[in-house]
Amino acid sequence: MPERRSILVVDDNGPSRDAMGSMLSTLGFWTEGAADGAEALTAAKRLQPDLILMDVEMPTMNGHEACRRLKADPATRDIPVLMMTGFDPRPERPKMVESGADDLIVKPIPMRDLQVRVRALLRLRELRREMHTTQASLRELVKRENPSGSKTPLDDQVAVTAQAIARLIGLDAEDQEVAYHAGLLHDIGQIGLPEELLTRRGSLMPDEFAQIQQHTILGAEITGPFRPASVLAPAIRHHHERWDGSGYPDKLQGPAIPMMARIVSVADGFQALITDRPYRKAFTVAKALEILAQGSGTQWDPRLVAAFATSSLPQRIAGVSDEDTAKIA
Ligand SMILES: [Fe+2]
Repeated sequence: MPERRSILVVDDNGPSRDAMGSMLSTLGFWTEGAADGAEALTAAKRLQPDLILMDVEMPTMNGHEACRRLKADPATRDIPVLMMTGFDPRPERPKMVESGADDLIVKPIPMRDLQVRVRALLRLRELRREMHTTQASLRELVKRENPSGSKTPLDDQVAVTAQAIARLIGLDAEDQEVAYHAGLLHDIGQIGLPEELLTRRGSLMPDEFAQIQQHTILGAEITGPFRPASVLAPAIRHHHERWDGSGYPDKLQGPAIPMMARIVSVADGFQALITDRPYRKAFTVAKALEILAQGSGTQWDPRLVAAFATSSLPQRIAGVSDEDTAKIA
């Protein structure tokens, strides 16, 4: 018999909490309750539930604050959080994004809607577990293949930037998770390339450039056996395609380029521009956005560039240190 999934229901209103608990029991879940945000933090750590349903309006510590703390703690950050509100949800959405909650639902919640949302978030929990297993295996692989640590094919900065762009354009929590891992792993194929080629300052011969291009294909092959390869491997293979069809490895054009690859490309491009290189200093955010705008419609998806450039994201990304990258997303 499959293990029953557990859900933590956080609501200061006892009858409302009990009603939600019995609805979830009817749907086959094991539930536990917490009466406020502080109690939720302790219960989440102890129980490690598969999902947390959290009321927004609560005394002492409200739902947004509790969620922010859950997402800041490595022990609880992967547990999906579904916020619930009895009021107009529109003012809550930005706060929900800021706190890192995965979804928002309006009370009273019809049983069918609850079932659909809960199932989607449990899939997200599963996806996070798979991604972490994949990530751990690939980190091991990188360590083994590159013991000196001189190559850095796992890119945390591009990961959080790609995730934040996915969130910005309204992709769901599952796709945001995929964007993060696609960003993290996009250059994993570099472990198969000679180090000298990757660090060369001078120009490359055509055959050397062809060799560099292989990192996209190799990366997709490395990640292919891991779940969910159906979205991760294409994002990695196509992250150097260009909107006008002049990229590599398959010269895909426009919308034929997988969305995840387009997101990683913008994230990678922006991060490269605002970072010091051996041959140039980092560009300012304004200059980096100007360069992105110049490449909009030729190198990058114009819709993505426009959404990114008109948001507060570039400034936020540029304003945080390596250790604080979690704050971006
Ligand atoms: Fe690359």
